[in-house]
Amino acid sequence: MEPTTKRIAILTSGGDAPGLNAVIRSVVKTAILRHGWEVLGIRDGFEGLIGGRAVQQLGLADVSGMLPRGGSLLGCTNRGHLRDAAAGVESANPDALREVVAAIQTLRIDALIVVGGDGSHRIAAQLSRQGVPLIGVPKTIDNDLPGTEATFGFDSAVAFATDAIDRLHTTAETHGRVLVVEVMGRAAGWIALHAGIAGGADVILIPEIPYDLTRAAAHIEARGSEGKRFSIVVAAEGATPAGAVGDGRAGAGGIRSGVANRIADELQILTGHEARAVVLGHLQRGGAPTAADRLLATALGAAAVSAVAQGQFGRALALRAGRIQLIPIAEATGKPRLVPADNPFLEIARGLGITFAGPDESGTRPQI
Ligand code: F6P
Repeated sequence: MEPTTKRIAILTSGGDAPGLNAVIRSVVKTAILRHGWEVLGIRDGFEGLIGGRAVQQLGLADVSGMLPRGGSLLGCTNRGHLRDAAAGVESANPDALREVVAAIQTLRIDALIVVGGDGSHRIAAQLSRQGVPLIGVPKTIDNDLPGTEATFGFDSAVAFATDAIDRLHTTAETHGRVLVVEVMGRAAGWIALHAGIAGGADVILIPEIPYDLTRAAAHIEARGSEGKRFSIVVAAEGATPAGAVGDGRAGAGGIRSGVANRIADELQILTGHEARAVVLGHLQRGGAPTAADRLLATALGAAAVSAVAQGQFGRALALRAGRIQLIPIAEATGKPRLVPADNPFLEIARGLGITFAGPDESGTRPQI
């Protein structure tokens, strides 16, 4: 046992992701059982520190049974008082930031563990510069956080989306329809790419490859001439047509795009096949985390406690070359990590006859 006991606090911030409870459980168990520390849980992300009003002591009983539970027992928000700071406006929301710093001092918190995405890490970076001892833990189902190779929640989202695509296959085939499945991913197409390949999609539309629906339609028609009366299109919510300019309204807490409906309508006109749209939406963020996400979340929780024990503050955890490492927090606040043009799954997918309907693709399959 260490000579001094610490009081650490944990909060979950931004949109939820399967595995948040697994991180909280891992932090609480490791802090108490290994170090004998006290753990506070902050409710609703940084909001719980404004006024210092939403803070609870977390003991072993509080995290019992939480490993397989989706959501966060502490609550999350991506619309709080620190929203502008989360959006990257430097020195935004100064009063709210001051309140958070004051609450941390008043509550005598020795270290704060912030589990969140890019916006939460931006807030954490500002707090760190104001002297708050903290550690960032990456989280998003979108898998697009800079600095880390993977985030928990992604595997669960892909598993759910793949199951949905499997189910849609049978009804699409039975009715000879085009089924357009919209998955999450505003900036990056990781969920669409992975679930699309795992679910056997015919067309995958991702933000990184602006699409031309005439190419997707040609692909669907080519399938028809091979006797395939149905097609599955998986579209990331941030997929955009070539030449289009985003209206900047869609985003966390913002206006949803409704990409699938537009694509389904256009494909029906272009192909003459009946088309239907399915938006998986927040179903992808709910439910039990997969075993892989539980393992990653548990490892991150333990690593966060170990970073606190070593006094490694102002850093974020990241998965690099399959190992959890500490990186400067600024590296977790940059631009989203997009699917690179040389990602092997893009080529694998093309080899399987999947089209991304991009400018470099013929949109039809070679005749054999
Ligand atoms: O960042 C994760 C994410 O799931 C995005 O894919 C999605 O656009 C967004 O969160 C939705 O957030 P909310 O509906 O909670 O505002």
